[in-house]
Amino acid sequence: MNYQFPRGFLWGVATAAAQIEGAPYEDGRGPSIWDVFCKIPGKIPNDGTPDIACDSYHRLEEDIAILKQLGVKSYRFSFSWSRIIPDGKGEVNPAGLAYYRRLIDLLNENGIVPNATIYHWDLPYALQIQGGFGNREIVGWYTRYAEILLDNFGRDVPIWVTFNEPIATYVGHAQGFFAPGLLDEKYARQCIHHLLLCHGAAVKLFRRKHLENAQIGIVVDVWKHFPAHSGDPADEALAEYNNECTGYGMFLHPLFLGGYSDVLTRYMTEHDLTPKMEPGDFEKICQPLDFYGLNFYNGLIDDAAAEQEKAKAGGNFQDRPENHTEKLYEVLHMLAEDYRISIPIYITENGVPQTDSPDVAALLDDQERIDYTAGVLAALHRAMADGIDVRGYYHWSLMDNFEWSAGFEARYGLYYTDYSTLERIPKKSAAWYTDLIRNNGFSN
Ligand code: NOJ
Repeated sequence: MNYQFPRGFLWGVATAAAQIEGAPYEDGRGPSIWDVFCKIPGKIPNDGTPDIACDSYHRLEEDIAILKQLGVKSYRFSFSWSRIIPDGKGEVNPAGLAYYRRLIDLLNENGIVPNATIYHWDLPYALQIQGGFGNREIVGWYTRYAEILLDNFGRDVPIWVTFNEPIATYVGHAQGFFAPGLLDEKYARQCIHHLLLCHGAAVKLFRRKHLENAQIGIVVDVWKHFPAHSGDPADEALAEYNNECTGYGMFLHPLFLGGYSDVLTRYMTEHDLTPKMEPGDFEKICQPLDFYGLNFYNGLIDDAAAEQEKAKAGGNFQDRPENHTEKLYEVLHMLAEDYRISIPIYITENGVPQTDSPDVAALLDDQERIDYTAGVLAALHRAMADGIDVRGYYHWSLMDNFEWSAGFEARYGLYYTDYSTLERIPKKSAAWYTDLIRNNGFSN
């Protein structure tokens, strides 16, 4: 079957500052919560740190060259707040601005559309010790940071994202395995409420800047849980809890419908987790957006009985769930029907990891990634044929990089990163993606 995409469809790849740049202590940059968290022994496999990562801070030209080689139309990257404002709210660091100025200019000179994320998980550590997202003052700190970016780069970057996957802030405060590594669900709920206010304030600010050629949105990942046995009350309840209380619902409801959902409101009330809010907060959060960025990796199947068995056996978090690429179709319909999202959508991330191994030849021969991506794109094509307005797709990631709490164990790149030489080597999937972009489609 042949899958053709509309003319002008934006094919891209995505990365994030903390995962590729390295150089955390150079040219005046301040530490971020991830720099600090990774130094705690045992947090990251093999005590991996983002200190070098892909060394992109020093290899900008090389990275632009592989973007050109791939033939992508757009590149999604993030700014490091602590490179721009080392302590988060004080002096601006000219070297930080200069680095992103070079990146953005190189992209534009090479005809690659910049897609910039203001915040991708790496809060300046100096702000964390003042309460971070738990302190309502973050709204002012974040808005000032966003304003510096918009004033410097607003005319040269057409696509702006306020936040990437805000769930990471929830996980980092409630579940401990992301920075800053806390285990306090009530605090996490407060952080999320403030983060949503930051988003709303940045969108309002963006409108005041009248950047006619730029658009703004947010990226929320959707790992939709489906009941293993539809109609089974235990499976249905588990899927609902996962979607509404600890998953995408906690963001999409306030962002697109206004307010927390009834399910989440009840859950927070019953467990004394309701964040402090002020009158008018939900109006501030629910701002009209130009697009919605969907990060899609998988659909998850909830089987309450099996979960209980797993819990008894001590659980096994290493089990990688099966890939349900076709679930993207249902997720896109859910966004339109349940959340009434009718603005354009970009698939801002999609990809699949390989476990690190000394067998480099096998890692380079990544047919599994090609099959997975083809499955996702087939589901996307089907949803678009139903009229769902998707404007672009970004593969995660350009190259293997620092995969947060999985360290360097999980390799998501179209390019293999040799962490001892820092060479980037194309995998089989890179050539496949280049052909797909050239043909604006693929056959399988
Ligand atoms: C989501 C995140 O945005 C990105 O930083 C991460 O590396 C990928 N998914 C893969 O886990």
